[in-house]
Formats: sequence, C-alpha cells, structure tokens
Amino acid sequence: MANQDDQFKKVVSHAKEYGYVFQSSEIYDGLSAVYDYAQNGAELKKNIRDYWWKAMVQMNENIVGIDAAIFMHPTTWKASGHVDAFNDPLIDNKDSKKRYRADVLIEDYCAKIEAKIDKEVAKAEKRFGDAFNKEEFVSTNGRVVGYQEKINTTLSRMAKSLENEDLADVKALIEELEIADPLTGSRNWTDVKQFNLMFGTKLGASAESAMDLYLRPETAQGIFVNFLNVQKTGRMKIPFGIAQTGKAFRNEIVARQFIFRMREFEQMEMQFFIKPGTQKEWFEHWKETRMKWHLSLGMGQYNYRFHDHEKLAHYADAATDIEFKFPFGFKELEGIHSRTDFDLKQHEEFSGKKLQYFDHEENKSYTPYVLETSIGLDRMFLAVFSNALVEEELENGTTRTVLKLPSVLAPVKAAILPLVKKDGLPEVARQIVEDLKWDFNVDYDEKDAVGRRYRRQDANGTPFCITVDHDTLEDNTVTIRHRDSMEQERVKIEDLRNIIKQEVDVRTWLMKMK
Ligand code: GAP
Repeated sequence: MANQDDQFKKVVSHAKEYGYVFQSSEIYDGLSAVYDYAQNGAELKKNIRDYWWKAMVQMNENIVGIDAAIFMHPTTWKASGHVDAFNDPLIDNKDSKKRYRADVLIEDYCAKIEAKIDKEVAKAEKRFGDAFNKEEFVSTNGRVVGYQEKINTTLSRMAKSLENEDLADVKALIEELEIADPLTGSRNWTDVKQFNLMFGTKLGASAESAMDLYLRPETAQGIFVNFLNVQKTGRMKIPFGIAQTGKAFRNEIVARQFIFRMREFEQMEMQFFIKPGTQKEWFEHWKETRMKWHLSLGMGQYNYRFHDHEKLAHYADAATDIEFKFPFGFKELEGIHSRTDFDLKQHEEFSGKKLQYFDHEENKSYTPYVLETSIGLDRMFLAVFSNALVEEELENGTTRTVLKLPSVLAPVKAAILPLVKKDGLPEVARQIVEDLKWDFNVDYDEKDAVGRRYRRQDANGTPFCITVDHDTLEDNTVTIRHRDSMEQERVKIEDLRNIIKQEVDVRTWLMKMK
C-alpha cells in the first residue's frame, strides 16, 4: 500500500514539475477537485482526444461527431432521470462535521478486508513456493473464505438497501460494522441522505425572470436531443453513431485521487443507434472494439480488465466497465452500456415530439435502441501518464526518470539540441525546428550540458532528441536519440521528417486495432 501511495505521489508531483497538471487557482490555495492543464498537459490531452476522435468518428463512415452546448433546457434533466435519481448517499459525522459518501465508507471497509486476503495469499505463496495454487488456496483456506464471505454479504446488503432507497439500513450497516470517521475515529453519525450531484445555475438578467439551469453532468443527453436532427440532415441509416467530446460537471463529494474524480471534467461519448433486438451483438462489438483501442496504445494487456455489471440501472439491459490498473488499483476507466430505448422514449414523452426512425427496409418506424461508449478524458490522461512514469536503473548504476508516453500522444515529438551554443550550431538547429514544426510539435533546447538536456526531455516524455554537432556542418547529418532505448543513430537532416512521422503517426498506432 505504501508503495502504491508513493508511486501516486510521484505521479502528482511529476505532473506539476513538468508542466502537465496544476491545481486550479493555486495562488488562492486551490479549489478542491478542480485542475488546470498546463502547457504539456493541454497537448497530451488534445492528443488523446484526437486519437479517440480519429478512431471513433473519422475511421467510421457511420459515425459523425457533434459539439452540443453545455447548457440545455432544464426539462432535459427531468426526462433523463438526473433531477430525481442522480444522487449519492451522504452521511455526516456529528463530531468532526466531515461529510462522506456512505457507500464509499462501506466499500473502503471491504477494501481493508480485501487487503487482509492479499496478505494471507502473499504469506502462503512464500510458504509453498512453486507448488502454490492461488485459486485453490482462496477457495479452501478457512480464514480467507470467511473474509470473502464478509465482503460479499456486506456489499450485497448495501446494494439492496441502496436499490430499495432504504437509507436507514445503510446507516444501520455502518453502525453494525463499527465504521469510524477515517480522520477522527468518531462513530457519531447522522442519518444517511440523498444528495443530487448536479450543479445548478441561472439564466436571465433579473431574479424574477431567471430560469434554473444545470451544468450538464454528462455529454450524452446533448446527443439524444439531437438524434433526429443529425439523422435527417446527415441522411444517417441505422446502425449509426453520434459522438462528442466535452465538459461535464458533477458536485462529487468524495473528490480525491487527483484527476481521477473531478468536479469539472471532460467526457468522450458515443451513442450508437441500432435496431431493437440487435443490442447483444452490438454490445459485444463495442466491448471488443473499445478494448482494441486501448490496447493499440501498447500500455500492457494485463493493465486492463472488464467488469460486467450484475446490478443494472433501470434503463440498461447490459453494462460493463473497462477497468485500468491505476497506481491505487483497478478502477473504472470507460463504461459501455446497452441503454435500450429509454432515453429517446423519455425525451419523446417530455418534449411531446416524435423521436423515431423510419426504416425503409422494414417499411416501419421505431424508436432505436442505443449502445453507449463513455470514457473520461481526464481519467484516460491519468491512465496514460501514471503508466508512463518510470524510474529506470541504468547499466552504469545511475537511474533516470523517464515518461514513456506512447509517442503518438507525447506533447513534444522531438527536441532539437545544438551541442554547444556557438560555431553556428544554434542556427542549424533553429533551421531544423523551422522545418519540422510544420508537421510536429517540437522544442528547441540549448541550456545545460547535452546529457542533462537528454534527461530533461526523457522526464518530459519527448520520444526523440536531435543533436546538431560540428559534423553536421560538414555532412548535414545529426544524431537522433530514441527516448526508450536511449539508442543513438546518425541520420541525414532531410530524413528526419520521415523517421519521426513513421513513429508518431496516428495511422501507425491505430493500424494495431486491425
Ligand atoms: N453517459 C454515461 C455516463 O456519464 P458514467 O459512468 O457516469 O457514465 C462515464 O461516466 C465516464 O466518465 C467514467 O467511466 C469516467 O471515465 C468518467 N467520469 C465520470 N465521473 C467523473 C469524474 N467525477 N471525474 C473524472 N471522470 C469522470
């Protein structure tokens, strides 16, 4: 656990030190769970968004992209169910006056039991060595089986109580488990209450005429309400998709883990409109396709897993999460949901407008079913960034910090370094920058010894360093150094563009999905 915490602290401080992510309004001591993307962070975020957009919109003839407004008519959120049901169960500690999510307190309690199981497994693994069979051990060892039963009964009772809106039982469970305030140890709890996560605001000049609005808590509804406009103007035929990326806002109570859970964040969502009855096959299709997209970035298959939902939201008939191994464990990165015709039907009912599709092949109208893929851009940023940050032991006994970002996503693709600040080398390096900047985001760096500059660029995630030396003046060649292997080769200046392009091109990376 300490190791995970240390690694996570390193991620957060590296993100600040290298200009990726800053706390919002830091000079005023920051705003909780709100972050700003800095000069490198904005580039990395844009590259992730572009990589998603390319794969989802531009590579699919039957998917188009839109950019709907953040403000929507307030009835949207009544129809979608967010006004009535987009809630978290909250509990206050009467002594510390701290507020917690009741379900998270219970989940954290279970995570502690899970840690005990891990400890038992580690001990047994040590004892039995190669002969150790983990599956058999966890299903037969009395202590482990007891721990697992405790977790299962606790979580299933909580799920049932939440589903039945039995908040008194959620409180009873907290008391029975003797869960204490993690900060003070106090067990003096209030009742559990529901708390709506939407941020409200007002539209209009005077208090009397102002209209209550919400900041959208998901981008999906901007797609549903535009379904027919897009279908008609784009002459789209089912099956087809509408995608968009954009900001969403949630008044998260448990706002921790850096950019994992934010109050203002960005989503990349796609709603795929299909014929009713075909949802099972499209669910499998999008599960597989989205996982391939993730794997194309080469961040290790072992870092991903599916978590199929057993308890489904009332509008869904199947749902799964793609979970990623963050520094604090496996957590949801993306959701894939089979949402039936719930949203379109709700909007039909609340707006009084027909939102149906006329199927020429079948010669009839119907309300399409929807398959949704929904990923948090900031969460994807954290997955990419935290996975890339490594401390590497070198052969000469030293260590280096290197940010092994997939080169297609790296903010700066190449740094051009004159070996010394004289003899005409900076001028040649500047010429190379002038030429390459048409195709790539490149950096010019002449400060410090070249070894230190290499280290700086490694820590920044730059895939290539290009060094201009005295031989360059003679033969128009430069040294190109690869970030991950640290290998160096001598190449012609005129070949640089192609060498870099081959490595960082979206085509090269997305081809891996095939
Ligand atoms: N339209 C479906 C929807 O919004 P969700 O599971 O609530 O589903 C989808 O959110 C994704 O948005 C999540 O998988 C996660 O990546 C991201 N997300 C949700 N809440 C977030 C938050 N507070 N901060 C950062 N990302 C968040």
